[in-house]
Amino acid sequence: MYILGIETSCDETGVAIYHSKLGLIADVLYSQVSMHSDYGGVVPELASRDHIRKLSPLIKQCLHDSQLTSANIDGIAYTAGPGLMGALLVGATTARSLAWTWRVPAVAVHHMEGHLLAPMLENNPPQFPFVALLISGGHTMLVKVDAIGRYTLLGESLDDAAGEAFDKTAKMLELGYPGGPKLAKLAEQGQERFHFPRPMTDRPGLDFSFSGLKTFTMNTLRGTEQTLQDKADIAYAFQKATAETLTIKCKRALRQTGLKSLVVAGGVSANKAIRAHLQEMTAQEGAQLHFPRLEFCTDNGAMIAYAGCQRLLAGQHEDLQIFARPRWPI
Ligand code: KG4
Ligand code: ZN
Repeated sequence: MYILGIETSCDETGVAIYHSKLGLIADVLYSQVSMHSDYGGVVPELASRDHIRKLSPLIKQCLHDSQLTSANIDGIAYTAGPGLMGALLVGATTARSLAWTWRVPAVAVHHMEGHLLAPMLENNPPQFPFVALLISGGHTMLVKVDAIGRYTLLGESLDDAAGEAFDKTAKMLELGYPGGPKLAKLAEQGQERFHFPRPMTDRPGLDFSFSGLKTFTMNTLRGTEQTLQDKADIAYAFQKATAETLTIKCKRALRQTGLKSLVVAGGVSANKAIRAHLQEMTAQEGAQLHFPRLEFCTDNGAMIAYAGCQRLLAGQHEDLQIFARPRWPI
């Protein structure tokens, strides 16, 4: 079964084809980053317009790359939320229209389920059940995953998402957009100098709070001459605090559930320092650690094609309704 996957929830247009037995066949991505960087963040209206411009050519390219035609496609999966409403509607209406024209089923995929299942595209995929840490620009969640579609939310951010905290801190350090990778790069030149708090680690529970780190960054920055080295040291301290906070909560979640497998996905899982902290902790706990490959940490069509394929195999698909939800619990 060949499934076409479409991702348009934010600022990446992603298209992929996944085969239920052969695996990933083709994957193409167009990033709008350079367009939004002039504005210091994603401009929703521009994002929608650009998805409209890029989506059809990318679908054509993906079919061409895989040497398939529309007649080979058995189903279409699209990100239906959460995300920017206008951007989601581009993917949803295109997917639904193509499915109707090609007489194949369409299936709405939850964007965070896509992230959560992205490590399944790797050679040594995680086995159920596992704990998943989902860290993206819009969400920070710890989820117990018993099987596809059987998710229990263990904890989430009460304010900013981890990626949002990276992006906002990077903005304060005048690093530009997208902030997360830029802050991570600058932190490589930073040294142990400031100590940032590890929010909500001194009390029980698996929820997160990252907004306090922004204020801490601002106050620390004001107390320096704001040289590049000052900024690098702040980036280092912020990243270390975030990595340790995430790691403490993951360890707690593994112990609480008694599980020995941790999956980490979403854009922030590309961060090397966070990966290293989690690697050390899981080794000490005797637990397995799974990440998606770097290009599938951030938004992509492959994870949506995979998640949609599993849902279609389980018999799920929709009628002619176009489904798009900017907010949607997993
Ligand atoms: O999953 P994603 O591509 O989109 C959402 O679903 O939100 O995640 C994007 C987020 C952004 O906040 C970006 O700054 C962050 O992931 N990010 C990183 C790194 N690469 C991307 N944050 C820290 N370190 C990185 N290397
Ligand atoms: Zn995402």
